[in-house]
Order: sequence, then C-alpha cells, then structure tokens
Amino acid sequence: MLIVIFLFAEFDKQGFLLNLDTKLPPELVYKYGNLSEGSCKPGYAAAKMSAIYPKFNKPASMFLDRNFKRLAKVTNYLPPFGFKTQERIIDVILSTTKKYGLGPDLDSLSCKRCIIVGNGGILSNKSLGSRIDEYDVVIRLNEAPVSGYTRDVGTKTTLRITYPEGAIQKTERYEKDSLFVFSAFKPLDFKWLRQMVFKEKLQGTEGFWKSVAHFVPRQPSEIRILNPYFIQEAAFQFIGLPQNNGLMGKGNIPTLGTVAITMALHNCDEVAVAGFGYDMNTPHAPLHYYETVKMSAIKESWTHNISKEKEFLRKLVKANIITDLTNGI
Ligand SMILES: *[C@@H]1O[C@H](CO)[C@@H](O)[C@H](O)[C@H]1NC(C)=O
Ligand SMILES: *[C@@H]1O[C@H](CO)[C@@H](O)[C@H](O)[C@H]1NC(C)=O
Ligand SMILES: *[C@@H]1O[C@H](CO)[C@@H](O)[C@H](O)[C@H]1NC(C)=O
Repeated sequence: MLIVIFLFAEFDKQGFLLNLDTKLPPELVYKYGNLSEGSCKPGYAAAKMSAIYPKFNKPASMFLDRNFKRLAKVTNYLPPFGFKTQERIIDVILSTTKKYGLGPDLDSLSCKRCIIVGNGGILSNKSLGSRIDEYDVVIRLNEAPVSGYTRDVGTKTTLRITYPEGAIQKTERYEKDSLFVFSAFKPLDFKWLRQMVFKEKLQGTEGFWKSVAHFVPRQPSEIRILNPYFIQEAAFQFIGLPQNNGLMGKGNIPTLGTVAITMALHNCDEVAVAGFGYDMNTPHAPLHYYETVKMSAIKESWTHNISKEKEFLRKLVKANIITDLTNGI
C-alpha cells in the first residue's frame, strides 16, 4: 500500500512531499483518536514528519554521551557537521560532565512538549509568557534574556543552546538552573568549552569572530554537547545547503534556531516555536525582542541562507509539524 502511495506522490528536491496539508495519516487518526482534546500526542512530530518526508529517521540523541564515537553519521565530518579531529577533547569533557540527558523528570515523561523561543522582535507585546511556560521543555538561544521580558517570553528555561561567540558574557545574566548546551561550529570551540568546563583561565581567543565569555557559571553536570548531527541534517538534508565537501563554507550553516527545531523533531513529541521570522516589509520593527536594533540592520549573511532556510521552516508549519505561536514563519 505504501509503495503505491509513494509512486504517485510527488516530492521536491529535498524529498518533501509537494502537497503539504495538515491532515493526519489514517494510522495517526486512529492512534490519537481516543486522546482527550488538547492532550500531548506521543510521537506526533516524528510521525507527521515521516509522512511528508519519508527519509526521516527518528533516533538521534539530543546530546553526545560516552558512546558518541558510534554515531556513524557524524564521525567522518569536521565541525560543525560532525566531530572528526575532536574525539579526544570530547572524551575529556564528557568524562567530567557525566550527565547526558535532560534529567530524570523530563527523561521519564511519556510525552514531551517542547518550544523553541527565537529571539525575534515579533515576540514583543504579545503576552505569550504564560503559554511558553506551559511547555515541558523551553529552549532558548544564545544570550536572549528572560529577566525583564517575562510577560512576553516566559520565565522558564530548560536548555540554553549556544556557542562561544553567542554565549552570555555577564555571569549575573545567567538564569538559575538551565542546562548550558554547547553547539560547536569550529574545532576551536571545543577547546573553549574544555576551558569553561574546567574553569580554566581562557587562552587563545584569536580564532573567534567576536569577544567570547570567559566564564560560564555552570557546574560540569549542567553542561551538555549538542549532537552535531542536527547541524548536518538541517544543512544538507532539510534545507539543501551546499555540501562543500562537508566543510563549512559560503552560506551552508543553518541558524541555531533551525538546528534547535531539527533537534526537537527527533526528541520531542510535540514541537512549537515562537519569535521566529523576519518581516522585511517592516524595516523599522525591532530585529530582536531585547534590543532596539532595527530590522533594516540585518545584513546579507555570509554563513546563513535565510531565505532557503525559511522555505524549509514553512513546510513544517504548513504540514502542522510545528506550531508557530507568533506566525512569523
Ligand atoms: C479507542 O477506544 C476504542 C473504544 O474504547 C477502542 O476499541 C480502540 O482500540 C481505542 N483505540 C486506541 C488507539 O487505543
Ligand atoms: C510594545 O509596547 C510598548 C509599550 O506600549 C511600546 O513602547 C513598544 O514600542 C511596543 N513594541 C513593539 C515592538 O510593538
Ligand atoms: C541561497 O540559496 C539560493 C538558492 O540556492 C542561492 O541562489 C543564493 O545565492 C543563496 N544565498 C546565499 C547567501 O548563499
């Protein structure tokens, strides 16, 4: 039966179904038919994703653990698409952090709802804070503040995903108890992480493109390394950015927001986003919810391909795989 369907279905270059709709496949209608209205649907995001993208293969752990060298898809790629050349330093870091999950309460949930809070000005004045706090896992990116903006962005932070140049620099700005999730973009980033984990004096900052944090106020047990597979999959499979022989190159790095969404598709039962999307038609609107820089300040990015990335995110919204609370995608 499946074969017949796929023969007649049409797929785009990336392998997504051309005709996207929000209908549930019959087996999901049956599976979720008895759930009460509004309850968390186990396996929903991955099942719906597989329905529009048959190549989707759910298992991909959120964070690296001591068995990371067995992750076949990432062993042969250099950062940011894998961890080749960084195995020893990762071993040292992971043997010290010793924790590789979200923690017992979240890891044991039978159905997890996650929200990725982007940094877009579109979050301002929508009073979505209490809705955001209802999610089991609230993911924030880089230095996006909570304090002072809780009415719009909520109070809860489960994970903060970041890299050296994006990490909060003022220690007093860290929230009390979020996990510090590190995403590497270049080999040097792992060296920085080792120094942060071991609370060493930071040395060798030449290779960073802007100033970086010198101290991360987190215990080793509160630090995780994001599985680099999500960068690879977002770039080469979902968005279709240039392979460039597996090397970082012009316009082939997905934004951290899309990397976080990719991670959530594999690890959360339901996925929502807020604060994503730039409306280029309103050049005077604020770019970020926490500063006054305007949309018009956005520059043509060397690393990202915002428009191609948006095509991918639109497919997820159109097929109702992710819920976009601020309708910016
Ligand atoms: C839903 O409930 C009906 C009636 O109780 C039952 O026959 C059916 O097996 C249930 N479906 C699922 C997926 O649990
Ligand atoms: C949000 O509301 C405040 C106070 O009413 C206003 O000053 C500000 O310009 C608004 N921001 C946006 C992005 O609309
Ligand atoms: C983004 O991708 C499009 C389509 O592949 C391409 O034409 C454009 O040059 C790319 N932009 C950047 C900044 O790489």
